[in-house]
Amino acid sequence: MSDEQALIDAARAVRDNAWAPYSRFRVGAALRTSSGSMHVGCNVENATYGATVCAERNAVAAAVAAAERSFEEIAIVTDTSPPAMPCGICRQVLAEFGPDLRIISTNLSGEVARTTIGELLPSAFSGADLCDDRPR
Ligand code: THU
Repeated sequence: MSDEQALIDAARAVRDNAWAPYSRFRVGAALRTSSGSMHVGCNVENATYGATVCAERNAVAAAVAAAERSFEEIAIVTDTSPPAMPCGICRQVLAEFGPDLRIISTNLSGEVARTTIGELLPSAFSGADLCDDRPR
C-alpha cells in the first residue's frame, strides 16, 4: 500500500469517530510528519456551534502535542463531491508550519484533489509578520 493510501485510510477511519450531530458532516484528517509519524483528527462539534473544532486542526493539535512540528502532507476525507478543501481557519493553522504542506482531499468514493497550503492560502500572515521592532 502506498504512503498516500495509508494516510487516506487513517483519515477515513478516524472520520467514523467524528462528533457531528448538528451538521452531520463528518470529516477525518491524517497528518504525516517529516519523521514519518501519523497523527489523526476528526471534527468535534458543540451545542454552542462556535466551539466546534475541525478535523484538520485537531490533527495538528495531536501532532504538536506529540512534539512534531514539521509536516509533509495531510489527507482529508469527507463524503462530498468534489472533496472538500480545508476551511479558512484551518488554512491559517496549517500555514503556521510552512507553505509546502501537501493537501490530499478525498471522499468516500475515491475522488482525490491535491494541492498545497501555499496554493490555498497565498501571502499568509505568519510569525515573520510579528518579528518587527514595535515597542512592547
Ligand atoms: N469541518 C471540518 O472538520 N473541516 C473543514 O475544513 C470544514 C468543516 C467541519 C466543521 C463542522 O463540524 C462541519 O464540518 C460542518 O462545517
